[in-house]
Amino acid sequence: MLKHKDHFHGSDLEKIEELYGIRKEDIVSFSANVNPLGISPKMRSALIEHIDVITSYPDREYTALRSRIGEYTGAPTRNILVGNGSTELISLFIQMEHPKKALILGPTYSEYEREISLGGGTSLYYPLKEENDFILDVEDFKRHLNEALDLLVICNPNNPTSTSVTQKDMRRILDECKRHDIFVIVDETYVEFAPDMDAIDSVPLTRYYNNLVILRGVSKFFASPGLRLGYAITGNMDLLKDINAHKDPWTVGSLAAAAGELMFTDAEYIKKTRELISGERTRIYQELSSWDSLKVYRPAANFILARIEKEGITADDLFDHAIQKGLMIRNCSTFPFLDNRYFRFCFMLPEQNTALLKCLKEML
Ligand SMILES: Cc1ncc(COP(=O)(O)O)c(C=O)c1O
Repeated sequence: MLKHKDHFHGSDLEKIEELYGIRKEDIVSFSANVNPLGISPKMRSALIEHIDVITSYPDREYTALRSRIGEYTGAPTRNILVGNGSTELISLFIQMEHPKKALILGPTYSEYEREISLGGGTSLYYPLKEENDFILDVEDFKRHLNEALDLLVICNPNNPTSTSVTQKDMRRILDECKRHDIFVIVDETYVEFAPDMDAIDSVPLTRYYNNLVILRGVSKFFASPGLRLGYAITGNMDLLKDINAHKDPWTVGSLAAAAGELMFTDAEYIKKTRELISGERTRIYQELSSWDSLKVYRPAANFILARIEKEGITADDLFDHAIQKGLMIRNCSTFPFLDNRYFRFCFMLPEQNTALLKCLKEML
C-alpha cells in the first residue's frame, strides 16, 4: 500500500496523479465540494458570444455583474463588492479589519487563520463539540465573546462539519458581537446547497448590522473554481469605501464578469442542482447512519463528515483504498480538533455516489 505524509486538498489532482499514477481525468473528486452537474448550460452556450469582452478592461465598478448578484441574493447593488474568488475577499476583509485577536468557529477552513496570522494577529478557536454533533451551542458560545476580540469568523454551513447556524441564532451572535465591538465575517460559500437556505442565509441581516460581511463565491455551487469569482455583501458603506480605495482594480477578469452575469440568471440549473444535492444528501445520510462502523453528522451542505468507529481502520486507509478506484475523499485529520478517524466527501452524481458507498463498505 502506498503511504503518504501529505493530505490532499480537493484541488490537488496533479499531486495524486504523480503519487498514485492515476490520470487526473480518471479521478472523481469527492473532496473538492464542487457541483457535479458542471457549469450552467445557459452560461456555456452564451459565453462564447461574449469572448470579445477580453479585448477591453472590465468595468471598474462591475455595475452589471453586481446588479445580477443583487437580484440573485436580494441585496442592494451598492452593498456588493466582487473579488477574485472568495479567497481574495477573505484576505481583503481580514487585512482591512487587521485583527489583533480573532475568534474562529472550528474545525473549519484553514484560510482564515492563515490570513489572520499573515497580518500579525492571533487566532483562537471556539471548538464545535463532537458530543453535540458539531452543532453550535449559542448560549455557551456567546459567553466566550468579549472586548479582547476584534474579529469573529463563522463558516456557514461549515466546512468540514456540514453543520449550520440559523439566521435567528446568527442574530443573537451579532447582537452580542455588536456589544463588544467585534466585526463578523460569515463565509457562505456553501449556503445555496442548504435544505432550507432562507433559514440560514445571513444576507438579509446586512441591512441591520454594520459589523457584518457575508462572503460567497461561484466555485462550488456554480462549479466554476477556475473562474475565480467571489462576492462580498455588507451594509457597512465606510468599510466598502476603504476596501475599494485599497484593493487592486480589475481583479475579476472581463470573461469571469460576463460568466457571472449569465450564471446567476440560470434558474433551471439552480433548481436542478438544489434538487440533486437534496436527494443525494438524504439518501447518503440515511444509508451511512445505518452503518455501525461509522458515525455521521447530519449535513446541511453538499458534503458530509464521518467518523470511523471500526477498530484498526483510519482515514488514511480509506483514502488509499478509494483512490485506487479513482475515488478521492478528504482525510480530515489536518483540521483542528479532528483526527485520523474523520473523513469528508461531497455528493456527486447518483451512480458515482453509489460507487463510493460500495467502496467504503468494502473496508467498513
Ligand atoms: C469555506 C470555504 N471558503 C472559501 C473557499 C475558497 O473559495 P473560492 O474558490 O471562492 O476562493 C473554500 C474552498 O474550498 C471553502 O471551502
